[in-house]
Amino acid sequence: FFQPLAQQPADALLALIGMFRNDPRPGKIDLGVGVFRDDAGHTPVMRAVKAAERKLWESQDSKSYLGPEGNVAFARHMARLALGDVDLGGRLTGVQTPGGTGALRLGAELIAASRPGVTVWVGTPTWPNHPPILAAAGLKAQSYKHFDPASQTLTFDSVMDALNRAQAGDVALLHGCCHNPTGADFSLEQWRVIADTLSSRGILPFLDLAYQGLGLGMEQDAAGVRMVMDACPEAVLAYSCDKNFGVYRDRVGALFVQTGSAADTDRVSSNMLALARANWSMPPDHGGAVIATLMDDAALVADWTLELNTMRDRLLGIRAALAAHGGVLGRVDQQRGMFSLLPLSPDVVKRLREDHAVYMAGSGRINVAGLSVETAGRFAAALNACL
Ligand code: LMR
Repeated sequence: FFQPLAQQPADALLALIGMFRNDPRPGKIDLGVGVFRDDAGHTPVMRAVKAAERKLWESQDSKSYLGPEGNVAFARHMARLALGDVDLGGRLTGVQTPGGTGALRLGAELIAASRPGVTVWVGTPTWPNHPPILAAAGLKAQSYKHFDPASQTLTFDSVMDALNRAQAGDVALLHGCCHNPTGADFSLEQWRVIADTLSSRGILPFLDLAYQGLGLGMEQDAAGVRMVMDACPEAVLAYSCDKNFGVYRDRVGALFVQTGSAADTDRVSSNMLALARANWSMPPDHGGAVIATLMDDAALVADWTLELNTMRDRLLGIRAALAAHGGVLGRVDQQRGMFSLLPLSPDVVKRLREDHAVYMAGSGRINVAGLSVETAGRFAAALNACL
């Protein structure tokens, strides 16, 4: 029965996790998968998350089913974190999803259900999982250049050229902040132009906000998304809590859809629930319940904000230390979030791994959090030796 299946390659990024773990060399450096790390290379459970888990454990008296929408209080909190002073209802609907990937998949399936085979414009490079998610939903991806690796800069002209070539009714997938893999974000002025273009040309924004708070701040990192959602009557927003709450394996995310009218919201919402039911029936509860518990407690929110600010400052400090080495690292302090994309050949990436125990994605993407101000120099030296 399964003879027709072709062998699939292991996910190259996730494969790095095992390769790194099995490397016995002391001083090995992991710049692979996008998780936050402290100076010791550890990905901690955030203090406020741990405290909320304790609180939940003491108060939770049932694990009975919730429904395909998941934890409604969680979705309301995430709508406010992402979009500011909003509430679900009226023209905005939202559900909890299994991580940002679940949100993207549900959003893609909703778009496909409404407009089968529609074109989604995707800047490249992008997160390697974006194209398979769109393809799995039956959507057609049209790529365009977002970033020039050699000069390490965002190519805004090519972005605008693509948005001006898109037809009314097409979809534009955009990273809300902390672009993965380049760290090259739009300025507020550029977001303004993008928002006006999407709105005037009738292109549906499909926004992916997976790193809010790790770029410049919770409000600043959402400013572009908010501008687009204000300008466009309809929009889809996939949200991930993996990084800013550090709940990666708990799989916590949300999908929000802004519609043209309350009547549309009802129809869209019923379709989201039907798709969720057919995909995962309902999202895993724990992470969403923990974050809802955290958000309901002002002291925990304050501590979470404090720790998130420290995490962001750590990334900015490492970026400054790297950029001081110049060369291919010279523009790393202009980029935001966890990632930068260095112009390295696959051969250089391989030599860094084999000769220097430095692990990174084959594309040359580094997770800045895998370094420290101390190891930045060692990484720069290894890089020089391989170039
Ligand atoms: C990454 O890009 O490293 C993260 O978003 C983890 C993932 O699922 O790929």
